[in-house]
Amino acid sequence: MKVFNGKTAVVTGAASGMGRAVTLKLLSFGAHVVATDVNAEGLKALAAGHTGTGKLTTQQLDVTNRTAFTALIQDIAAKGSLDYLFNNAGIAITGELKDNVESDWQRTIDINQMGVLYGTLAAYEVMRAQGNGHIVNTASIAGLMPAPMLALYAMTKHAVVGLSLSLREEAKVYGVRVSAVCPGIVETNIVGVDQMQKLKLGNDSPFDFIRSKTPVRPIPPEQAAEAILAGVAKNLPEIIFPLHGKLAVSTFHNARRIWELAVAPGLKVMRGQ
Ligand SMILES: NC(=O)c1ccc[n+]([C@@H]2O[C@H](COP(=O)([O-])OP(=O)(O)OC[C@H]3O[C@@H](n4cnc5c(N)ncnc54)[C@H](O)[C@@H]3O)[C@@H](O)[C@H]2O)c1
Repeated sequence: MKVFNGKTAVVTGAASGMGRAVTLKLLSFGAHVVATDVNAEGLKALAAGHTGTGKLTTQQLDVTNRTAFTALIQDIAAKGSLDYLFNNAGIAITGELKDNVESDWQRTIDINQMGVLYGTLAAYEVMRAQGNGHIVNTASIAGLMPAPMLALYAMTKHAVVGLSLSLREEAKVYGVRVSAVCPGIVETNIVGVDQMQKLKLGNDSPFDFIRSKTPVRPIPPEQAAEAILAGVAKNLPEIIFPLHGKLAVSTFHNARRIWELAVAPGLKVMRGQ
């Protein structure tokens, strides 16, 4: 995609999963990517595997640190222009809401919601001054429909969709674009074995569980990255993928009873019933 050639992009949560895949794809398109993550070792591994034509800079960043996030964005803007910010970093804490503890609430809000807000505010300031730029906030299909057993996650992802689509309209007059990325199920490291045990699903990978118990087929992060960048290039408001994600959201909004019936068996399994 030529549109990314020579452009500068910041990616958060770039050491793993979709952030890593988006970074590598942007590099293959000739972009300069400032890849950030709280996981410094993961960033080192990313740099070691970089063979694309673009330029890679890595920088450790915890998105919950507003001062550090703002300084990073301002530093990049001072050296040139900031064309894209991918607010991708996120976590998922599973379980029934009644069993989630205060540290679960706080961590989920701090990373998934406040982290995205901090990045958005910092990038919006420099992009307004530039008169262009694109803020790409990763939500989820859980930002467009409920996600039982992931209620905290769904709360923050609805917030990200609300923030992104509202700002999209406000930002048009300044030449700034805003999109919300809403993936379905992507095979990454976001749900570990600890979370599976909490859901009483044993030691299986969550993706093996999904494949064996449902018709949903999780997609690899590389396929997700292609969908994300194609959506960004088209400046879509919501970038919803793959087909199972689109179907789930559409069923929830247009055929609620069918959605409820489809969700019920999975819920029973996750409760160990
Ligand atoms: N995997 C899915 O099925 C799925 C579906 C919908 C949305 N998403 C969203 O996609 C985004 C990427 O997730 P993924 O699936 O690639 O997960 P992942 O766990 O593979 O990658 C997430 C990255 O975020 C980083 N991170 C976590 N906390 C951070 C912090 N405080 N500061 C900076 N970096 C931090 C992690 O170190 C990790 O490298 C998340 O926002 C997630 O909610 C994932």
